Amino acid sequence: MTASLPASGARLSAQLGLTERVLAGPRLRKLLGIVEDGLDTVEQSLARELKVTDALADATTRYLYEAGGKRVRPMLTLLTAQLGRGITDHVIAGATALEMTHLGSLYHDDVMDGADVRRGVPSAHAVWGNNVAILTGDLLFSRASQLMAQIGERAIRLQADTFERLVLGQMHETVGAQAGDDPVEFYLQVLADKTGSLIAASAQAGVLFSDAPDEYVQPVLEYGEKVGIAFQLLDDVIDLSADAAETGKVPGTDLRAGVPTMPYLLLGRESDAASQGLKAAIDDGVARIADGADPAILDGAMAQLRDHDVTEQTRRQAYEWADAAVAAIDPLPDGVVHDALVRLSHVIVDRSS
Ligand code: IPE
Ligand code: IPE
Ligand code: MG
Ligand code: MG
Repeated sequence: MTASLPASGARLSAQLGLTERVLAGPRLRKLLGIVEDGLDTVEQSLARELKVTDALADATTRYLYEAGGKRVRPMLTLLTAQLGRGITDHVIAGATALEMTHLGSLYHDDVMDGADVRRGVPSAHAVWGNNVAILTGDLLFSRASQLMAQIGERAIRLQADTFERLVLGQMHETVGAQAGDDPVEFYLQVLADKTGSLIAASAQAGVLFSDAPDEYVQPVLEYGEKVGIAFQLLDDVIDLSADAAETGKVPGTDLRAGVPTMPYLLLGRESDAASQGLKAAIDDGVARIADGADPAILDGAMAQLRDHDVTEQTRRQAYEWADAAVAAIDPLPDGVVHDALVRLSHVIVDRSS
């Protein structure tokens, strides 16, 4: 895999066209301008925050930031901020801190998942080794906290509570379901914690830091959490996608490393011989890979899983969670922000990278 870095995160985000897809059409055009300007300001803020210490630390922290990313979380913060006073300095600081938290979690996650590619480039641990990758994630978390501290106590609490849930989600995923846990329910809780928490916090940050009415906090929080689950379920579908050039990841990375995903868990519920045979083949391959075999031994099984109905079931589940997210924002006033959040939930489950 060659590491051709795009010039900036903003450029890749624009290439993916997420914002344009969410805020398409004449009714949302004004909001599109506001959110795009806000994203530019967040981008400048990220660039500033990721250039504060020594040359090595700056290089490692900027590495995955410069490789791209969709900036879903800042976009959500900027959108919900329109329910209040709009894009205040605190909104920008909060959006920046939450994106930095996300960024830090990616450095750690790739070490944990043994993932060699992130955002289309070799992951940080593949370049500098595990220790530097872990420390870079820690640095990003520290800096995110410093930024939140500038906003105030509510922001620090939001950051701390969110980060605790994110870490617990990652820990529960790592340790796995225990006796008596339903594997699918357990997994959904992991998704809510490791991904939903940060997306919910991003939605909440926009309301809190724009001084929007308090009664909007709960609906956007629930929305963010459910959209986060939908997002992650779709990620499981994308994880099996054959097109590595489009996803920026190697297909089946999580599964090959023994990290269960929803299609695999649903496969475990199927009773027909073909499904059970496929599950046994995956389990066997995962065990052999853990013993040093080439991960490519699972190429065939990954393709079969991608074409199995359980992957379509996972996609349907993602749609159901997106619908539930939309139901959660019923209490918000009718208008462009509500419409944009509905659109975002659809775009998240229709994306391919
Ligand atoms: C990837 O998140 C990690 C998850 C929590 C699923 P994104 O898909 O938002 O990653 P980037 O920021 O666009 O790279
Ligand atoms: C990432 O989850 C969650 C966090 C970074 C907290 P995954 O491991 O499922 O996401 P990808 O596939 O590596 O982006
Ligand atoms: Mg991962
Ligand atoms: Mg992971």
